[in-house]
Amino acid sequence: MFADVPEAPKDPILGLNELFREDPSPLKVNLGVGAYRTDANRPYVLGVVKRIEQELASNPNTLHEYLPIEGLSDFRTLAAQLVFGENSGALREQRVVTLQSLSGTGSLRLVAEFLGKFYHRGAICYLPRPTWGNHWNIFPRAGIECREYRYYKDKTHDVDIAGLLEDLAAAPPRSIVLLHACAHNPTGADPTPSQWQQILDVVRERQHFPLFDCAYQGFASGSFERDAMAIRLFERATLPAPETNSASGRPLEMAVTQSFAKNMGLYGERVGAAHIVCAVPSVTKPVLSQMKQIARALYSSPPAHGATVAARILKDPLLFAEWETEVQVMSSRILRMRRELFDALRENGTPGTWDHILTQIGMFSFLGLSADQCLYLRDKYHIYMTTNGRISMAGLTSDKVQYLADAIKDAVTR
Ligand code: LMR
Repeated sequence: MFADVPEAPKDPILGLNELFREDPSPLKVNLGVGAYRTDANRPYVLGVVKRIEQELASNPNTLHEYLPIEGLSDFRTLAAQLVFGENSGALREQRVVTLQSLSGTGSLRLVAEFLGKFYHRGAICYLPRPTWGNHWNIFPRAGIECREYRYYKDKTHDVDIAGLLEDLAAAPPRSIVLLHACAHNPTGADPTPSQWQQILDVVRERQHFPLFDCAYQGFASGSFERDAMAIRLFERATLPAPETNSASGRPLEMAVTQSFAKNMGLYGERVGAAHIVCAVPSVTKPVLSQMKQIARALYSSPPAHGATVAARILKDPLLFAEWETEVQVMSSRILRMRRELFDALRENGTPGTWDHILTQIGMFSFLGLSADQCLYLRDKYHIYMTTNGRISMAGLTSDKVQYLADAIKDAVTR
């Protein structure tokens, strides 16, 4: 029956974990998947998460019932407040539809399915070049054609703002535009606040539908507020009113997909949310009903455990403060790794400029290595990274910095 089924290629990111596990070398270093490790190269369960889990485990009233299709009510409210801010006009006016969903990917798929069904027929989704590879899996499967907009300049290791604005201005009106809310994956290069304003201007002008993928809130700057800046800027925006060109037009419709994998370390619990910001409150009921129908067919209802933990943290100011401190501990270890790698490359005389290692933010550094050089590092040094030259700084540890720097020097000078 299945004799003709061709074997699919390994996933370019998660497939690296498989290769890494199979590698018997004691030298091996896993800089592939974006998962935080301590400096002792151990996965990290946040202290605040551990405590809540212990409480839940010892509480006889903890049940394992199904959640509603749309997820845990408290979690939905609090997750929306985290991303949009407590003073959000859209939240106050009850224009936001929020479903708890399966972390970033599940939330993206849910929104993609919804847009594929209810956004205008033939709408194209514009993805940054480069972007997280899974974006290219998700949208076409929901029947949405994807194209690229220029995002990154290899030469300067920075956002190609002129190319980006030009491509979004040339895209058909009312296209879907995927934007990384902060800590762009894979490049670690984010627009400046004034560049975000320029992006918003072209989005408004062309009446595009912005979709923010928000997987690293807190990880870019250490501040939840700062990392949500772009989303909040767009959430406050209105479409130009046709006659007056004033700011009194309809609120901009948009979507946000939110993951708690990295910032709460709840990778395997699949904790996240999909938010659709509507122009008027009257449409939220039917939108929610359709999103629920899609979720029911995809996975029925979301998992309870991680969202219960997350909701406790988000609700209690003391736990929240503790969480924020732990996020800052993680993000500052990443910053330290950036500095150490940069210094080691300078000291060992690796040719090229490496300043971008310091200026890029978030979990990843986009080194600027060719696919060939990445494969060389894997074959000769057992260093695993995606072949676009991205390394997870969160997977680098102090004892491996020199080894990595010397291997990079060999790869770029051979
Ligand atoms: C990554 O980019 O490494 C992470 O977002 C994990 C994943 O699912 O790809």
